[in-house]
Amino acid sequence: MLATITRLFENDYDEDGFRTCSVTGLNIHRSAEVHVKLFGLTAVIAMIVGGLFAFSVAMTRWEVVGLIGEFEGYYRHLSMHAWNLLIFWMVFMEIAVLYVGGPIVLGRRLPLTKVAKAGWGIMVAGALAVNYFIWTLSGGSDAPLLTAYVPLDVPLGFYGGAILFLLGATVAALPFLVSIIQQKREDWNGTLPLVAFGAFVTFVIAVQAILGGIAAFSYAFIWQAGIIDTINAGIYRQLYWIIGHGSQQINLLAMITVWYFLTHVVGGAVVASEKVSRTAFIMYLFFINLGAAHHLMVDPGLSAGWRIFNTSYAFYGAAFASMIHAFAIPAGLEAGRRQRGLGGGLFGWLTSAPWKNPIFASTIFSIILFGFLGGITGVLMGQMQLNMTWHNTYATVGHFHATVALGTTLAFMGLVFFVIKTMFQRNFISDRLALLVPYGYAAAMGLASLLMVYIGILYGVPRRTSQVVSNIIGSEFSLSAAEPLFLILGPMTLLAIIVGAVFVLVAVGSLLGGSRTTESDAQALLPQGGLVPDGGSDSVHAVEMRGTFTLCLVFMAAFVTLYVLNWFLLTQLWSIGA
Ligand code: HEM
Repeated sequence: MLATITRLFENDYDEDGFRTCSVTGLNIHRSAEVHVKLFGLTAVIAMIVGGLFAFSVAMTRWEVVGLIGEFEGYYRHLSMHAWNLLIFWMVFMEIAVLYVGGPIVLGRRLPLTKVAKAGWGIMVAGALAVNYFIWTLSGGSDAPLLTAYVPLDVPLGFYGGAILFLLGATVAALPFLVSIIQQKREDWNGTLPLVAFGAFVTFVIAVQAILGGIAAFSYAFIWQAGIIDTINAGIYRQLYWIIGHGSQQINLLAMITVWYFLTHVVGGAVVASEKVSRTAFIMYLFFINLGAAHHLMVDPGLSAGWRIFNTSYAFYGAAFASMIHAFAIPAGLEAGRRQRGLGGGLFGWLTSAPWKNPIFASTIFSIILFGFLGGITGVLMGQMQLNMTWHNTYATVGHFHATVALGTTLAFMGLVFFVIKTMFQRNFISDRLALLVPYGYAAAMGLASLLMVYIGILYGVPRRTSQVVSNIIGSEFSLSAAEPLFLILGPMTLLAIIVGAVFVLVAVGSLLGGSRTTESDAQALLPQGGLVPDGGSDSVHAVEMRGTFTLCLVFMAAFVTLYVLNWFLLTQLWSIGA
């Protein structure tokens, strides 16, 4: 077994430790590749653990099954689900994304490999501690859920584990920073490639988020340790959301970086405008952190002015940046494919795309569903007035499953498949099963997220309760009208979990039993006409992008319709108690 695992980290390198990737043409150093594999594999293990708890959580909320009672451990299961998926699966993947975006794209060694390993070790220790302290909660302790809000009686070790994990992530990110510094030292006037630039902005935002997280959990830690007598719940919440939402911003930026990378290497996209895309990344630096304020919309200590500014005006700076990417990425795909002569009609560039390639399909479904479902719902619920109909309902759960569980997870699944093919150099054990993953997961999770939103907005079903349809504990209020929607939601969540298990089966099975890829397998991954289009003499601006323009109009129409609909639903609330 050990020999099999060791073999996974081997490839043919020249005497300097480099090899040329036959798909991307990048010069890859062994040190960078080995660490991408290490962090990627660890992320998949976290996903398996979190996925097991997705089952128990989803089968509890589907009250026909009603697996676990409120006081029989439901919150413990929900905490395991959230921490393993939202934090550990995502952050381990993100360090891998940094190493791809930095040393691999720049064709450099990974510097400070011992620091990278130490970072990995500290992250693993932190993740194990968090899991341990959640799972072994004693009778008097409360499950922390994702937020670990004070003054819940959360074990001290939990906060210690969370701090350790965040410190580990900082240590693991350092080699990435050093690789960027080395690159700039050698070529001060040169511009970083867009993917490396995106990874760098991700890094900066990650540092801000992590510092906030360390501050929040340290504050709670010293209170739980008895070093300070009292703790201010409002200040904790402010500090917490720097990491709570900040980690979603890391997810968003890493995912967008992956979109640019994968649409290029497997779809043939070009960059429609370097300046515009880079400006959009820079806008995130200034505006996206303010978006975290939308979690504090009902907090009593904050003035309405503060909330309106941070959750509306400043937040729209980040939404505008996202819109730019939402146009730039499909536009680049359209331009690149039209340059190859693959673009007849309005959507020929899209219909002729490699839809049978699971890496491409994962990336495109991630872009579409993140935008239409996650993005639109995020702007709606991030708006102060509309938030009143969303807050703490199941609709919130629908929004963040559309963003992270659907959009980001699909993009990262595509990246894992790409790494299996190009770095582990293994074929999939079954191409059909691999293809089932993006289609099945997008359909099941997409529908599940949509239903969660409906159930929350139309019926006001709350989040974080194990039993609501048959009985809201301590209330006479009946939500049984939502029951028929749960009859569709339940099977959809089950289907999403089954497809998630198929992803793990294909990924792990291919690593252990997949045949070695050959030159022709590698070439088959590339877009028709190769990585650089032959007919690419036309400037990208001379190529039509009317397909993308039409898609943007459709998006705009959906956005306006849902915005108006949500305001309409809000007006309906005013009749309560009349
Ligand atoms: C097949 C996949 C999944 C299913 C069926 C599923 C199901 C659920 C359900 C039903 C809840 C609501 C619990 C409640 O409010 O009572 C929930 C909560 C949550 N899920 Fe998922 N989930 C899945 C995947 C994911 C993924 C991939 C992520 C992150 C990347 C994620 C992150 C979360 C978080 C952060 C919460 C909220 C925890 C809290 O309230 O503290 N889930 N999930």
